[in-house]
Amino acid sequence: MKTKMNTLRECIKEAERKGVAIGHFNISNLEGFHGVCNAAKKLNVPVIIGLSEGEEEFIGREEAVALVYTIRERDNFPIFLNADHHKSFESVKACIDAGFDSVIIDRAKLSFDENIKITKECVDYARMITKETGKDILVEAELGYIGEGSNIKDVIPEGAGILTTLKDAKNFVEMAGVDLFAPSVGSIHGLIKSGKPHINAGLVAEIRKVTGIPLVLHGGSGLRDVDFTNAIKAGISIIHISTEIRLAYDEALKKSLLDNPQETTPYKILEPAVEAIEKVVYDRLKLFNLLF
Ligand code: G3H
Ligand code: ZN
Repeated sequence: MKTKMNTLRECIKEAERKGVAIGHFNISNLEGFHGVCNAAKKLNVPVIIGLSEGEEEFIGREEAVALVYTIRERDNFPIFLNADHHKSFESVKACIDAGFDSVIIDRAKLSFDENIKITKECVDYARMITKETGKDILVEAELGYIGEGSNIKDVIPEGAGILTTLKDAKNFVEMAGVDLFAPSVGSIHGLIKSGKPHINAGLVAEIRKVTGIPLVLHGGSGLRDVDFTNAIKAGISIIHISTEIRLAYDEALKKSLLDNPQETTPYKILEPAVEAIEKVVYDRLKLFNLLF
């Protein structure tokens, strides 16, 4: 008999209790999906699949829901789907309607008040759907500068040093009523050739305390192991990784094509790319799930 599947909210609570974090990995296609699933299943840990608006358009919104639900229902495996960095109420609403487990409304570039207004609109909609359907939907918002673009950058972009203040974090979470909060605590999106800043773990701990809700760390690619473990100990419950997966996929695919110029079968060409993604995800999940 199947055991009852935990919701994402319950998995996050469990992660907090154990002092570990749930990995969130962005994908663009089925190869990415299999790579992430294979790794999470090998380690038997919950996992979140993330889709930015561009990734979602490429893979298909309802198609992604079908993939995640299939693994969750058929294999009784705790895999969840997140609408990552969505920019409008309409795109958040579309994902909630399609069956996503969580959404991120990303309007950190707006003023504090405008960011609250649109976030609140998303929260209200999610609550209404929960009331109607019973499905628990988590809403995340971000405050402060966490950069843009899961790509390779030469240097740390300007603005990266501006961290979320305790006062803003507390007010924002109280006023917007979000379930998850992504503050600016040192990291930014992408891989940076000159190296990434350290995470301010002290600030993470204080923000966790004043907000009272689980925190999410964005811009995981290229961070040092010690930054991850310190951040988790300080109160980070979900960690986002994207650029590292993109890079692993690109490199493996290019090599596969170069090494086998006569090969025409897509699944043979693409297999190393799935394996490369699986390896990145496996290593990150292992680190995020270390028990201290
Ligand atoms: O939402 C996605 C991430 O925050 C990914 O950041 O590209 O630095 O891994 P990353
Ligand atoms: Zn992010």
